[in-house]
Amino acid sequence: MKHKSLISINDYNKEELFQILDRAEDFEKNPTQPLLKDYVIASLFFEPSTRTRLSFESAINRLSGKIVGFTDAASSSVKKGESLKDTIMTVSNYSDLIVMRHPIDGSARWASEVASVPIINAGDGANQHPTQCLLDLYSIRKTQGTLDNLNLAFVGDLKYGRTVHSLVIAMTMFNATFHLVSPTELKLPSAVKRYIKEKKLNYYQYTDLKEVIPKVDACYMTRIQRERFADPMEYERVKNSYVLTRDMIEESKDNFKVLHPLPRVNEISEDVDTSPKAYYFQQALNGIYVREALLTTILGV
Ligand code: CP
Repeated sequence: MKHKSLISINDYNKEELFQILDRAEDFEKNPTQPLLKDYVIASLFFEPSTRTRLSFESAINRLSGKIVGFTDAASSSVKKGESLKDTIMTVSNYSDLIVMRHPIDGSARWASEVASVPIINAGDGANQHPTQCLLDLYSIRKTQGTLDNLNLAFVGDLKYGRTVHSLVIAMTMFNATFHLVSPTELKLPSAVKRYIKEKKLNYYQYTDLKEVIPKVDACYMTRIQRERFADPMEYERVKNSYVLTRDMIEESKDNFKVLHPLPRVNEISEDVDTSPKAYYFQQALNGIYVREALLTTILGV
């Protein structure tokens, strides 16, 4: 893991995932330590972000590291036509590690092939979001006491939701059963379902959310990803497919938790926020500890 890029969650095996999660637990107890004081980290966000960018920045600041970068490609020389390759080769000279979010699937892998420093994929198009996946695993383990043998519902935009793709792939390592709730147009891609089949695990597809809630240990809600639709009319048709309300979780299991990578649009009603079963804001907080663990592991600190 030391000096290696993290592009896709399956770059790590089970043992390596546990190494990050265990280290994140230590950072949760003691998040402020000057471990990165000699390091410069580049944060290149070609696409908007609140949680990923700010929790990386918070993690770097808590570890006394320095940050360079941009939050909008329009303020960089990309605006003048510079290629991703040239941008990454240049920023490799200015930093010890690059955190990158980009709207094109596969861009992070491409960047890792031309960079001379490790790349952390902070989300590439509709493909993968491995650092979100790590904090999702951390949150599931923390709330359920285990990652093994869980029934998980994934709800919403399973086609374009990169956080779903990464988490489904990761949970195939832990004998999960998958309950996939989406409009017909937004089903989980076959390439991701193949991971489930290869591990001989079960998945069930639904269009109705209500019937799933009593069966599962956690429900991973997602927003419909408006920015990925080629046809705005198609987005309009599906945008309000699911809204989770407080009364819908009354009959859920005692250990049930509502997760969401956020941002939320309207798929979780605000009356759920005060339920002890709502975990999405704590989930976002866990991003700091997990990203501290990841940065220090990759930099070999
Ligand atoms: N979960 C997540 O990726 O949120 P942001 O888009 O705000 O970073």
